[in-house]
Amino acid sequence: MASRPLKVIILAAGQGTRMKSDLPKVLHPVAGRPMLGYVVDAARALGPERLAVVVGYQADTVKAYLTEGFPGTTFTYVTQEPQLGTGHALLVARDAIGREEADLALLYGDIPLVRTATLRTLVGAHSSTSAAATVLTAILDDPTGYGRIVRDPGTRQIVRIIEHADASSSERAISEINTGIYCFKVPEVFPFLDRLTAINEQKEVYLVDLVELLLGEGHRVATVVADDPGEVEGVNSRIQLARSEGARRAEILMTLMRSGVTVTDPASTYVDWGVEVGRDTVLEPGAILRGKTRVGRDCVIGPWSQLIDAVVGDGCRVWSSVVEGSRVADGASVGPFSRLRPGTKVGAKAKVGNFAELKNSDVGPGAKIQHHSYIGDADIGPDANIGAGTVVVNYDGMAKHRTAIGRGAFVGCNSNLVAPVKVGDGAYTGAGTTVTQDVPPGNLAVARPRQANLEGWVQRRRPGTVSAEAARLAQPRGAGSPKGEGGDGDPKA
Ligand code: UD1
Ligand code: CA
Repeated sequence: MASRPLKVIILAAGQGTRMKSDLPKVLHPVAGRPMLGYVVDAARALGPERLAVVVGYQADTVKAYLTEGFPGTTFTYVTQEPQLGTGHALLVARDAIGREEADLALLYGDIPLVRTATLRTLVGAHSSTSAAATVLTAILDDPTGYGRIVRDPGTRQIVRIIEHADASSSERAISEINTGIYCFKVPEVFPFLDRLTAINEQKEVYLVDLVELLLGEGHRVATVVADDPGEVEGVNSRIQLARSEGARRAEILMTLMRSGVTVTDPASTYVDWGVEVGRDTVLEPGAILRGKTRVGRDCVIGPWSQLIDAVVGDGCRVWSSVVEGSRVADGASVGPFSRLRPGTKVGAKAKVGNFAELKNSDVGPGAKIQHHSYIGDADIGPDANIGAGTVVVNYDGMAKHRTAIGRGAFVGCNSNLVAPVKVGDGAYTGAGTTVTQDVPPGNLAVARPRQANLEGWVQRRRPGTVSAEAARLAQPRGAGSPKGEGGDGDPKA
């Protein structure tokens, strides 16, 4: 069938008063993505010759999101200021859309669960009839808040759409609602936009009044009932936002499971839109994967881990840890109870263990940081071993400095590495050493006072606190008194 060109317009100018938010409603995230993004996806998939977006409240913020989120897509922006209602929004956009022969699909920006297939059904139904407008409707268990579809009791034809605020109690009992998705024949519909008024409960120019106006002039208005009412739910409040979030999340997890990812407990697993997870990876309870996170194959993520913009290779384990803006290479393990802060790279098969904090650091393949460490702004060579309690002292109170630890180096427990400093390949540091100078390759650095054992000190200082047996053992062998180990402050020494 020879069809008219298709154009799409998305209304996204409203503040979303019922959200009680400083953020424009259409930018509130659902599964990590502004809800407008989903609507744009669905619209783009229709392949329209023009995609217009009506912006108004925080127009620049909304435009900035679309520019960044959809590089390469050309939007026709229309600014609606002030926002006098959905009908006013289309009126303002009329010139930008153009009045030539075309079908116009109109969507609201607050329906984040909408599917392209549903839009296709609507557009297909519309273009095959003579109707000037086709309205996508849905049957809801709880239609509260939506515009209701009023039908002629005899013919069942749509007569008008009545907004919830303006509806009588019998009209409110109607469970068929207006989804806010329509298809219009431009030349037929546009002349009627001037006739919309704001004479209603909300004093807004309602787009829905078009239905009655068109019918009054002998035009046909058709309806298509959506198969899945959940898909066309609008988000006006934080409660509806949470509902959409839950639905979108369930869908994301289903898609992952279908692709070969095990999700042990979908109820406690949170994966943002756009996150990638490879086959045979297991998401344990409490796995939270956010932002631009990508996880490879055969990994175990969780229990209880949060990955934010993290890139994890194949065969990795991340448990009870937070990994943000960091990369973890194949076969590496992180956790439990570690935190990888932005700019960290963990090499293949490296082990970052219990209670380690890493920031802006590069950990070579096979290196081990197993226990209680802070590693900031450091480059750690392959197979190096970082002892328990090691701290990289990267900040001198004014600036951050880097530390380099060589290949196969062995940093003793509880070392402090005062940056900038280098520990050479294969070098060792003694436990408890505070390293303030470079350690050449193959050297052992020890920087700590030698240990002194003061014989009999306790017995002399605190007679009676030592058991008789310990006191006897502590007695100096042979006669004379012990050589005073200077500085112990014992007057008898
Ligand atoms: C609207 C419909 C209602 C339908 C429901 C479906 C009208 C009058 N009512 O009500 O019949 O059941 O959606 O979810 O159309 N917007 C603008 N400019 C404005 C006003 C709104 O661009 O001046 C945009 C908003 O940003 C939003 C969309 O239009 O994306 C819908 O506006 P909203 O105020 O949420 O309409 P509802 O009250 O939900
Ligand atoms: Ca709405």
